Amino acid sequence: MDMYRDMILDHYRNPRNWGLVENPDIDHAEDNPTCGDHLHLTVKLDDQGRVAAVGWEGEGCAISQASASLLGEEIMGKTLEELKHFSKEDILDLLGISIGPVRLKCALLSLKVLKAGAYGITAWPGEEDDYE
Ligand code: FES
Repeated sequence: MDMYRDMILDHYRNPRNWGLVENPDIDHAEDNPTCGDHLHLTVKLDDQGRVAAVGWEGEGCAISQASASLLGEEIMGKTLEELKHFSKEDILDLLGISIGPVRLKCALLSLKVLKAGAYGITAWPGEEDDYE
């Protein structure tokens, strides 16, 4: 457990892929409505539709920022088709600690921004109705 906490703090203090990419194919920002924290994600795809560059900026708690940092690393090299199935459980697995209901939106904000930017899905991950 401590190992995961240290890992989250490391991503929070040293966020990977910090800073927006130029001429992104995906460019989307959202707030966590419960606290107003903010995440802006940009993604560049290569000519095969794979994620070639990720850049993001945000303001928020350690969990939301670590989540964005981890997600950015995780999606590198994948296609949008592959990422469609990236789920709430997957992001929680990456974080590796148990997240209570109060902090769930912190953990999911990065995935929400990706799904809204890539597919126009406005529901929070895990609450999508007509999406598989
Ligand atoms: Fe705002 Fe976590 S408290 S995203």
